[in-house]
Amino acid sequence: MKTIALIAQKGGVGKTTIAVNLAVATGLKAALFDLDQQESAVIWADRRKNESPHVEFLTERRLPDALRAAEQGEFEPVVIDTPPAAGPQAFTAAQAADIVLIPCRPSLVDLDAIRRTAQLIKSAGVPAFVVFNAAPHSATTLLEDAIAIVEATGLTPAPVVLRERSAYRASWPLGKTVIETEPKGKAAKEMSELKESHLSGRRSMARRSILSSIREEQPVDAETIAPVQEPIVESASKVKPSRRNKLHIGGYYEPGEPIIIAFQKLGIDLRMTQQEMLLEAVADFVSKHHAANAFQLDR
Ligand SMILES: Nc1ncnc2c1ncn2[C@@H]1O[C@H](COP(=O)(O)OP(=O)(O)OP(=O)(O)O)[C@@H](O)[C@H]1O
Ligand SMILES: [Mg+2]
Repeated sequence: MKTIALIAQKGGVGKTTIAVNLAVATGLKAALFDLDQQESAVIWADRRKNESPHVEFLTERRLPDALRAAEQGEFEPVVIDTPPAAGPQAFTAAQAADIVLIPCRPSLVDLDAIRRTAQLIKSAGVPAFVVFNAAPHSATTLLEDAIAIVEATGLTPAPVVLRERSAYRASWPLGKTVIETEPKGKAAKEMSELKESHLSGRRSMARRSILSSIREEQPVDAETIAPVQEPIVESASKVKPSRRNKLHIGGYYEPGEPIIIAFQKLGIDLRMTQQEMLLEAVADFVSKHHAANAFQLDR
């Protein structure tokens, strides 16, 4: 019996959405254990009015017994949904799982939060994959940057990227999943691919495959909805190069992490020469300290 846990400290990243969609995508024998006191998966199942998948709220203390019972009851697979915290539920789920999926929106807030999730996963010693979820349309460069940041934390990006699609919100109130409401849609295709890549042994697709999969995205269609309005890791090449009003670089730098990642987070144009960076830093200093008249800057 395969056990997959959805874990992320950050709220609203798609843990429950992926948990219910994945459980249904795997077929009629799946069980979904909801360790989150919000009971979102249980509420979804109440709306569903269907025995399958088996959805049950559990405390983490009861998880080992429930997994043994699921094995005897021939459930396959077991999906575990967890609350948005690095608490005992997430840790117990990670220890019990064969594989952990970490949903993450490709935004700066989520990518920052992923470090704490990475620490928890490492201490549980379980294979884990970051699933970029609700990725905005045409976000190839953004995703490339996000992949680099995730890899720098020592985690592995899942080979399948889930895009921002209205099908998820439309199917939720019906207690359904995208595979049931729009079986031929793109959301259903991505969810099937996610299932295939983590439940059929095709786990270690090369990074080239991830990048080619994010480049395959076609122009906007009816299923694609507006990008999420939250801070995003902008493409370094698109960002106007200025550190003005930004925090000190030390706040962005994690010991051991390549300095280039901290630069990406600051939005520094990595194509700048060192001389250009130095000039810009001096210009920032001058403007910050109102010392423009102190000396002339010839740019
Ligand atoms: N790929 C997607 N495209 C569009 N909307 C999405 C996508 N994934 C999730 N959502 C929406 O994002 C919202 C939050 O999703 P969800 O409840 O699954 O997150 P969560 O991580 O379980 O949150 P919490 O931490 O509070 O339990 C929901 O409204 C859901 O419909
Ligand atoms: Mg949830």
